[in-house]
Amino acid sequence: MVNLILFGPPGSGKGTQSANIIQKYGLIHLSTGDLLRSEIGDKTPLGQEAKKFMDQGLLVPDEVVIGMISSKLDANPDARGFIFDGFPRTTAQAEALDKLLALKKTSISTVLSLEVPEDALIKRLLNRGLTSGRSDDASEDVVKARIVEYHNKTAPVADHYAKFGKFKKVKGDGTEEEVFELLSKELDELVGEKVQ
Ligand code: AP5
Repeated sequence: MVNLILFGPPGSGKGTQSANIIQKYGLIHLSTGDLLRSEIGDKTPLGQEAKKFMDQGLLVPDEVVIGMISSKLDANPDARGFIFDGFPRTTAQAEALDKLLALKKTSISTVLSLEVPEDALIKRLLNRGLTSGRSDDASEDVVKARIVEYHNKTAPVADHYAKFGKFKKVKGDGTEEEVFELLSKELDELVGEKVQ
């Protein structure tokens, strides 16, 4: 199994590149942001609770997202591998993910971190906010709060995986195609045979 974490701050291109990666390599995409937005869309109690945090640019409590990921892993027993997008976002989430994967006799293969300057992140997210309907893209204050959460709570996840030699930076401020080429260089070796 190949288990990839696509890492990086809000707006660094994790969702965009996940779509390219699943198409080329046939991994299952697990995005906690997408799962939470789907819960909000369905007006579930979980979604309504999560929305309070998301609208302020704050992280949703660990136990909520860990539970969601755990059930998605169980729902895909025959997966060739997973691409985790927007998860883990705290060291506690990383430790929980390591344990969940160990139960399935697998582990994280690599963490690829998209590196994009902060002014470009803010520009990308506010630009998307003009049309996406995502409330957390609509105001510069909320976009900046998400980036602060990233620095305070998510950046330490890099050290967690660097300890095991599994963390690699990838230049993320080229065009979408340029960034995908850099990611493919890492993944061709790791994933091996491509899914056509
Ligand atoms: P989530 O949905 O994960 O959002 P995010 O990581 O904050 O930001 P994005 O996903 O929007 O950024 P991205 O890196 O995927 O970039 P994208 O490809 O979209 O999380 C939302 C909220 O949910 C969180 O704030 C939190 O409240 C909660 N949450 C989610 N997961 C959680 C967890 N594990 N724990 C706790 N809470 C959690 O691109 C962004 C824009 O840039 C797009 O418009 C795109 O077209 C554009 N773009 C992409 N690549 C390029 C490029 N190369 N050049 C120019 N533009 C580009």
